[in-house]
Amino acid sequence: MNPDFARRLWLTAKPLIFIGCLLPLAWLCWLAWQGQLGANPVETLSHRTGDWSLRFLLLTLAITPARRLTGWNRLQQFRRMLGLFAFFYVSLHLAVYLIFDQFFDWSAIAADVVKRPYLTVGFAAFLLLIPLAITSTRGMMKRLGKNWQRLHRLVYLIAVLGVLHYAWLVKADLSEPLLYGGVLAMLLGYRRWRRWRGVC
Ligand code: HEM
Repeated sequence: MNPDFARRLWLTAKPLIFIGCLLPLAWLCWLAWQGQLGANPVETLSHRTGDWSLRFLLLTLAITPARRLTGWNRLQQFRRMLGLFAFFYVSLHLAVYLIFDQFFDWSAIAADVVKRPYLTVGFAAFLLLIPLAITSTRGMMKRLGKNWQRLHRLVYLIAVLGVLHYAWLVKADLSEPLLYGGVLAMLLGYRRWRRWRGVC
């Protein structure tokens, strides 16, 4: 492929992916506007934003293996954007809970988070994501040096907590959390395998 054409293709890919990342939110807004969020709109909002939080976390983790397997180094430029979208959707997910589920009743929220293990785990994952979002800029990357990489390895733990949070809240059918867990296990396994072979 002509290198100039390839460069332009990658340049247009970024805004397109940015728009693509906003589509789940646009779809939810559309459903809300049409009054099609189902019998329990708060539950639908909570579930859909939760699903997209986990999907964006896994997509972020999939970038490095995809880059290594395909040799497309430019894929790396999407990692930060996808990670920030994960944070964006988790923030929406939390906002749905705080505003529509608990109506900002802080004492009820604190009691709920302490009492229900799936909320404790989800909340811990959210808190851990905050420093990653704050330090996601190039400036912070430079300033933190090697510690930046160490800090950002937390994303694996966050994804594990996200899957655990999902598995814990599901009452009967574990197939979806198991599917996400399987994808995460493959991504973690790939990383381990590279380390074991000494190529990481
Ligand atoms: C990284 C952080 C988090 C991730 C990845 C995540 C992901 C998810 C997922 C995948 C679901 C299930 C969606 C479905 O059933 O289709 C869910 C549900 C839910 N999450 Fe989270 N979540 C996170 C943090 C939080 C936090 C901080 C809270 C609130 C303190 C929270 C509260 C809830 C609630 C209330 C539900 C719905 C439970 C139900 O209706 O049965 N989550 N979340």
